[in-house]
Amino acid sequence: MTGRLDGQVALISGGASGIGEATARMFVDHGARVVIADLQGERGRRLADDLGEASVFQHTDVTREDSIADAVDRAVAEFGQLDCLFANAGIVGAVGPIDEIPAEEYDATMAVNLRGVFLAMKHAARVMKPRGAGTILCTASIAALQGGLGPHVYAAAKSALIGLTRNVAAELASQGIRVNCIAPGNMATEMIAGLVTGDPDRVAEVAQGMAGTSPMPGRPGLPSDVAHAALYLASDAGAFVSGHTLVVDAGLTSGSGQSMPLFANHAPMIREAGRRGLPDE
Ligand SMILES: NC(=O)c1ccc[n+]([C@@H]2O[C@H](COP(=O)([O-])OP(=O)(O)OC[C@H]3O[C@@H](n4cnc5c(N)ncnc54)[C@H](O)[C@@H]3O)[C@@H](O)[C@H]2O)c1
Repeated sequence: MTGRLDGQVALISGGASGIGEATARMFVDHGARVVIADLQGERGRRLADDLGEASVFQHTDVTREDSIADAVDRAVAEFGQLDCLFANAGIVGAVGPIDEIPAEEYDATMAVNLRGVFLAMKHAARVMKPRGAGTILCTASIAALQGGLGPHVYAAAKSALIGLTRNVAAELASQGIRVNCIAPGNMATEMIAGLVTGDPDRVAEVAQGMAGTSPMPGRPGLPSDVAHAALYLASDAGAFVSGHTLVVDAGLTSGSGQSMPLFANHAPMIREAGRRGLPDE
């Protein structure tokens, strides 16, 4: 099989679990070599072992500039270049009413979800600019697109990622580097399992529950749905796409499932239109 990422080298932060893991697996299936950058050492190492020679694990804390810089340098040292950064690490962070969130929790949430992505973009650009090529992706959320779909600080950080993506894309397009963002809806991952049940390992059970509330009944969002979006944006298929936020939510934020009575029955309206001056039959 010819892979859509043959010869490419990708760095995936948050690559040990959920969306990052699914993307690491799909990228390797498509011929890429992948650096899995994550806080979770045991899990990340296990995944890299599983993926064989095409992958290495780099223990990384995206909130620390030296740590993310090391991850970028590891990609270059190990595989010779960096073609794709997927700045995907994120946390739910501070939850609760706006008048109760401690400022320290705001800072800690922003440190991962916004500063961590900024730092990753910064260091990826450092090695991509001299080559005049590369793709940068990050993971926002539908919480950035509509109110009430995520905790406050999370929504703020994810909204900022959409702006950051556009701006960095504007700077780097002339240098052959594309920058895009993915906004997933609810995906059955450890993050959501932890949020809903308190136990990140109950992903299968949570997926079942999500199938019932999905805009596409019976079909929960899966990490691989986001991995497919990342594959498109990282590959040549997305060669003319930059500054874009690709929403992967089964249409939730465009209103799917919210106005079904309007779509249920067709009632001809041409006669009424005729009365308003349009030609009658
Ligand atoms: N699952 C969803 O429904 C959903 C929806 C919208 C957006 N997202 C976003 O997708 C991304 C991936 O989330 P997921 O659902 O796969 O969750 P997940 O918890 O399965 O994966 C997140 C990974 O990020 C890592 N991580 C957290 N903090 C880190 C740090 N400081 N440095 C390095 N790694 C760190 C974790 O160890 C974990 O492996 C996140 O940015 C999340 O906000 C998820």
